[in-house]
Amino acid sequence: MTVIKSFVREEVEEKKQLVIQQQLTDDQLYTRRTNFTYDGVKTFIEQIGVVLIIILTAYLVLNHQISIGAIMLHIMLFNNVSAPIRQLHRIYDEVNDAFIYAEAYFQIIEDDDEIEQTGTHAVTEAEGTFEMRQVNFTYPNGTKALHDIHLKIERGKTTALVGLSGAGKSTILNLLNKFYEPDSGAILLDGINLKEYENASLRSEIGLVLQKNHIFKGTIEDNIRYGKTEATNEEIIAAARKAYLHDQIMELPMQYQSDAQLLSGGQQQRIAIARLFLKDPPIIFLDEPTASLDAIATEQIKNSLDAIKQNRTVVIISHSISQIVDADIIYVLKQGRLVESGKHEDLVKQEGVYREIFDASARSLNLARIAQTLGV
Ligand SMILES: Nc1ncnc2c1ncn2[C@@H]1O[C@H](COP(=O)(O)OP(=O)(O)OP(=O)(O)O)[C@@H](O)[C@H]1O
Ligand SMILES: [Mg+2]
Repeated sequence: MTVIKSFVREEVEEKKQLVIQQQLTDDQLYTRRTNFTYDGVKTFIEQIGVVLIIILTAYLVLNHQISIGAIMLHIMLFNNVSAPIRQLHRIYDEVNDAFIYAEAYFQIIEDDDEIEQTGTHAVTEAEGTFEMRQVNFTYPNGTKALHDIHLKIERGKTTALVGLSGAGKSTILNLLNKFYEPDSGAILLDGINLKEYENASLRSEIGLVLQKNHIFKGTIEDNIRYGKTEATNEEIIAAARKAYLHDQIMELPMQYQSDAQLLSGGQQQRIAIARLFLKDPPIIFLDEPTASLDAIATEQIKNSLDAIKQNRTVVIISHSISQIVDADIIYVLKQGRLVESGKHEDLVKQEGVYREIFDASARSLNLARIAQTLGV
C-alpha cells in the first residue's frame, strides 16, 4: 500500500485489479452458462421421455391394448427410475469437483514429502562440525547458485561468509539447514551425511536468524515463545533482555501482549534474536543479524551474540566488516564460487576479492572524516 501510494500508482493498480476481477467474472459466467446448458439438456431429455410415454400409452389405450390406469402406472414407473439417475448424476458432479480440489491438496502434501522423508538419524547433542565437499547446487527454478564449494565449519568456532549480494551466502545456510539438497557433492555434520539426519532433530540443533524474519500474527510473547514452546514467562523475559528488547516492550501499552506485527523493523529483528536466545542451540546461523538495527542496538546485540558464541559453532553472514573481522575463519564467495579463505589479516594482504570489499566498505564509512572527530 505504501509503495503504491508513494509512487502514485493507484490508477495502474486499480486497472490491474479490474482486469483480474473481470477475468474471474468471465470465467464464472462461463462455468454457469455451461452448467445451465447441460442442466437444460438433461431436463429436456427427461421430459421428452415423459411425453413419449404419454404418446405411446395413449396410442395403446386407443387401440384397446392397455387400460387408462396403465398410463399413470407407466409415468410413475418412469419417474421412479429417472429420479435415482438424476441423483447419480449429481453425485458424479460432486465427485468430479472433489477430485479437482483433492488433486491440488495432495500435490502440496506429496511435494513436502520429497525433501522431508530422507533420513532417520536422530541427533541429540550435535558437536557442530560441518563439511561441504564439492557441492553444486541449482535452485528448482534453474538458477545455478553454488559451484564446487569445498569448505569446513569447525565446531566451537565462528565462521564468516563474505561476498557481494547474490554471491550465494544465504544459499549455503539453506543447504546446511537441509531446506534444499545439493545436486552433487556431500554435506557432512560431525562426519555423517546430512541426508541421513532426521530433519526435525537436525533443525532443533540449529538456531537461525535470517535476513528476513517472519513475525507471526499474534502477541510479542507468542512470537518469542516460538523459539521454545514450553518456555516460562521468566525465560521469555530473560531472552528479550538479552536481545535488548525488554525495555522497549515494557513501554508499549499492552507490553508483552502487544501485536508483534506492529513492531518496527529493528524490533522485529530483535524478536528473532530473542527466539534464538530462548532456543539456545549448539549451532547458530546468523544471516545479517543486525541489518536493520540502530548503532546502539547493534553494539548491544553484538555483545549478546559474542556471549552466546562461546563454545558454539557459529556461521555469520554480514556486509558490515565490524561483524566479521573477529571470525576464526572467513570464506569469500564470488558468483557461487569459493574464491578465498583465511583470517582477516591474511585476506587483506592477499589483495583479492576480500580486500576489494574491505576497501570499499572502509571508504563508504568515510573513515578519514570519522577519524578527525574521534578524538574530539
Ligand atoms: N529461492 C530461490 N530460488 C531461486 N533462486 C534463488 C533463490 N534464492 C536465491 N536465489 C538466487 O541464488 C543466487 C544466490 O543467492 P543468495 O540468496 O545465496 O545470495 P546472498 O549471497 O545471500 O546475497 P545477499 O547478500 O544479497 O543476501 C542469486 O543469484 C539469487 O538470485
Ligand atoms: Mg543473503
